[in-house]
Amino acid sequence: MFAARLKADAARVETRLRAEIARYGDLPVVAAMDHACQGGKGLRGFLVMESARLHDIPEDQAILPACAIEAVHAYSLIHDDLPAMDDDDLRRGRPTVHVKWDEATAILAGDALQTLAFGLLADPALPPARAVALSHDMAQAAGAGGMVLGQALDIAAETAAAPLDLDQITALQAGKTGALIGWAACAGAVLAGTDATPLRSYAAALGLAFQIADDILDVEGCADKTGKRLRKDADAGKATFVSLLGLDGARARAAELVTQAEAALDPYGDRAQVLKEAARFAIARDR
Ligand code: IPE
Ligand code: IPE
Ligand code: MG
Ligand code: MG
Ligand code: MG
Repeated sequence: MFAARLKADAARVETRLRAEIARYGDLPVVAAMDHACQGGKGLRGFLVMESARLHDIPEDQAILPACAIEAVHAYSLIHDDLPAMDDDDLRRGRPTVHVKWDEATAILAGDALQTLAFGLLADPALPPARAVALSHDMAQAAGAGGMVLGQALDIAAETAAAPLDLDQITALQAGKTGALIGWAACAGAVLAGTDATPLRSYAAALGLAFQIADDILDVEGCADKTGKRLRKDADAGKATFVSLLGLDGARARAAELVTQAEAALDPYGDRAQVLKEAARFAIARDR
């Protein structure tokens, strides 16, 4: 059930997002934006669609925040891959944007994807009060208290005098990965104007587990499957759960977090089965 739904939602979100990008015409920066929005797993867009289903929100509304979060995620990856950050040449099995075009185009494509996301949230198809709430929360999640903060801590940790402790690594990862995943999982409740607390708890655990799995894949994954360069984090001095707890410790922590994520969904009963499967997928994935 989960796998089919993830695939269908990812395809639908990618198609709509690419159509929105195509409206900007035929420029290198637009081609770069389009390139960056293809071939992802689509987990964040799926989380928006699924949390919207949980709250009986129509799909023609949910698709807008789903595209918005995938646009912000794509922007974060373009910038994450830049030479000044992780310096990667491969993403989703294809050259990164700064390699295929150049650094200026990559910076600008990321910038434009971020503003596109806020434009999508301001679409008149969304009830104005819900659009304001989603935009406000997106600014928090993507900005200097969320994803950008996490990325800044991640880069700072590479040259820190002492290794980060568990609380510091948890805070770093909650920012760089957890904040956008949290926004996505709560979007359905925000669209419905209802309490997002259970989804927020679910996403906090899911986001950490998802990043732990990413860090484990860096050590023992297969580049053909992940579509990105692996075995880089240790040499770069990245602070991860694997660097602190070792592989087995990180795996155990991720499994505990998945149990927590599933338990957080209990208030929704059987309707949350697909989201529970998503939590298990977060650590069982090979890409
Ligand atoms: C990669 O995210 C970056 C992290 C925050 C771990 P994903 O693993 O969701 O990447 P795509 O979108 O599927 O390529
Ligand atoms: C990236 O984390 C997180 C964001 C882009 C916000 P990583 O640097 O671990 O992601 P990968 O491994 O390059 O996908
Ligand atoms: Mg990084
Ligand atoms: Mg990276
Ligand atoms: Mg990584």
